Amino acid sequence: RVPTVGIDIGGTKVMAGVVDADGTVLERVRAETPEKSKSAKAVEDTITELVLDLTDRHDVHAVGIGAAGWVDADRSRVLFAPHLAWRNEPLRDALSARLAVPILVDNDANTAAWGEWRFGAGRGEDHLVMITLGTGIGGAILEEGRIKRGAYGVAGEFGHIQVVPGGHRCPCGNRGCWEQYSSGNALVREARELAAAESPVAHGIIERVGGQVADITGPLITELARQGDPMCVELLQEIGQWLGVGIANLAAALDPSCFVVGGGVSEADDLLIAPAREAFRRQLTGRGYRPEARIVRAELGTDAGMVGAADLARLVARRFRRAN
Ligand code: BGC
Ligand code: NA
Ligand code: ZN
Repeated sequence: RVPTVGIDIGGTKVMAGVVDADGTVLERVRAETPEKSKSAKAVEDTITELVLDLTDRHDVHAVGIGAAGWVDADRSRVLFAPHLAWRNEPLRDALSARLAVPILVDNDANTAAWGEWRFGAGRGEDHLVMITLGTGIGGAILEEGRIKRGAYGVAGEFGHIQVVPGGHRCPCGNRGCWEQYSSGNALVREARELAAAESPVAHGIIERVGGQVADITGPLITELARQGDPMCVELLQEIGQWLGVGIANLAAALDPSCFVVGGGVSEADDLLIAPAREAFRRQLTGRGYRPEARIVRAELGTDAGMVGAADLARLVARRFRRAN
């Protein structure tokens, strides 16, 4: 029952934590995600540094990685990552060569779903869908205690379902992807646009960043929304509405009993979730004639991906010990 390390690699930050067998985070460290223009190796350097730092103080037996990208069916390569430099990157082998412990690699939303199912808002749910709202939208399907991976490992890429034909360009190469309308990036893009245009509704946030539009971030928008700033409240409402519409589409396809919403934007709580629930109820096909899934916020918050990765790594470590 030794602790393992979980790592969540997102588009903006890398979080690493030592997690014990009941999902308690014993220590955490973090770093900025190297920019997309940097090499894949830069990200691996960051991961290695964080793990070595933690192993100075903890006896660690396995490392689990939740990566913001398309992880192949063998869970060894990242095939593609819209927000990171990975292109067909052999992440597991690259890290195994540098860290002397078993490594597990999975998609970040998959590990978040696992974390919430084991220790959070999804406990006891046999049909769970996870949505993470961070830089992009991450998705995962967890049925009867198993993550559904599809034939090639990349099921659950909900963020790249087209919701607006000809809409905003997405770093995946397409236009109008759901994550262009309901994510941290979408929130920040809208706020910066309004601020750059010196829209009267933006005066609160412009003042707050001293006119530096580039300093507008997702957490700042949430903070101002909580204080009642009308523009920030409205932007979260829009993101929430798009979230609800997307969830209604997913309900049509997958019919889960529970949607867990996590990622940085979910810190906005009811400012996001309430409009999402309303839009979901308006949009759900067959509404009034079918049971409706619950929409809940991730209980582990932004730790879900890290905690889930650590727990999945524990299973791998056990298998590894048996085999050796
Ligand atoms: C990526 C996913 C990832 C998600 C959240 C999306 O843009 O395609 O693989 O899970 O962002 O990080
Ligand atoms: Na996924
Ligand atoms: Zn896309």
